[in-house]
Amino acid sequence: MLTAISRYGARVLPNTQQIIAECQRRGELVRGPQIEEFEEAFAQRLGHGRAVSTSFGRMAFYYILKALDLPPGSEIILPALTFWVIPELVRVAGLRPVFADIDPGTFNLAPEALERAITTKTRAVVPTHLFGLPCDLDEILSIGRHRGLFVIEDCAHTLGATYRGRPVGTFGDAAFFSFQTLKPLNTYGGGMALVQDPTLAQRVAALAAAEPWPDAKRILGRLRVGRLQRIFTRPGVFTLSAFPILWTASWLKARPDVYLWESIRPLSPLPPQYGERYSNVQAALGLAGLKLLDQWTKLTQAHAHLMNDTLRDLPGVRIPEVPPHRSHTYYQYCVYVPDRDDLVRRSIRKGIDIETLHVDVCTQLPLFGESSNDPPGAKLAATVVQIPIYAGLSDHQVTQIAKRVRSVLERGTQRPIGVPKASHQ
Ligand SMILES: Cc1ncc(COP(=O)(O)O)c(C=O)c1O
Repeated sequence: MLTAISRYGARVLPNTQQIIAECQRRGELVRGPQIEEFEEAFAQRLGHGRAVSTSFGRMAFYYILKALDLPPGSEIILPALTFWVIPELVRVAGLRPVFADIDPGTFNLAPEALERAITTKTRAVVPTHLFGLPCDLDEILSIGRHRGLFVIEDCAHTLGATYRGRPVGTFGDAAFFSFQTLKPLNTYGGGMALVQDPTLAQRVAALAAAEPWPDAKRILGRLRVGRLQRIFTRPGVFTLSAFPILWTASWLKARPDVYLWESIRPLSPLPPQYGERYSNVQAALGLAGLKLLDQWTKLTQAHAHLMNDTLRDLPGVRIPEVPPHRSHTYYQYCVYVPDRDDLVRRSIRKGIDIETLHVDVCTQLPLFGESSNDPPGAKLAATVVQIPIYAGLSDHQVTQIAKRVRSVLERGTQRPIGVPKASHQ
């Protein structure tokens, strides 16, 4: 029988249940010493700045914005291709998000678009290291310095990646990371701010510490949901659960997967679950996960290289670009193909669940109003597919995925796409 592969695969510690049980036995599910230990270990690993744990990655960003205490209406520049929640929180903080286009080759903020978007009201820029690849930090930091902007790195996808050998998240004034289930370090939710200036860091820490502690039952509930997600994305279980729905939908040209996404809506007032502290049991999982991070990164990179080798010579296919001096951690493996929807439909019939856009072209969202700027780079980037290569797959599984995707592409329509040729490989 055909075994299907889910688009999602979390990084899971082999001793997850044991760590949870130990925290429970010590009465340290919610509060406990591991929170501070995790913050210290995280800052030490990154090598610069103070780390402050938060309920979500997005809340780390929100506290950084609040701590900067910018004049109301100040403009914050973000890439047009990002997770909609981040610009929405700019608005919740009383500031104005301004979108600049991305480079469709790297999916990251284009320095020349950043330069064009700056006005006298601009106070900060958010370079998002999307899909696991660091931004062009030399250019962005140089613009930021010359124009007097705060630089806040969005590292939600990119913990473990480096730029000129140094970890991302340590270049700007501050950075934030996500520990959601599918992120490079999974603690079933949570996030971290990394702040360079000690006074700013103290303000961020005070904002995070002012939130109430979460309820132990809710934390256990979240961990249980994480366990179920783990079970349902295992190939054997996925084949018999979500896969038949996706398989049927492929013949009906339906998209049931859109119901998995967080609904796009105003976030003011902030949803109640946003404002709480990070729990000790999650910090204990984070501490153990940090030790395995490099191993997981290497596995994912090896899978990406295998996929590159299988797909790179196909006409109309463009494999991920990695400019010099950057390491790519492949949080998502994104490729341009001649006909995205055709590939998705025919791959699921071969048991491969392929995701399309994982983030949003924010200028096209009614939430942010009519936009006079129509970013061609972000629109083009929205046509990519994301092929599963996550660390939890075996080399054999990735080889099977690569072969099946290749066979679909070989027999697919060879409609050319307007992607400029990669300048770096
Ligand atoms: C680019 C980006 N930034 C920030 C975040 C926010 O992380 P969190 O969900 O932990 O708030 C995400 C979440 O998926 C993301 O994709």
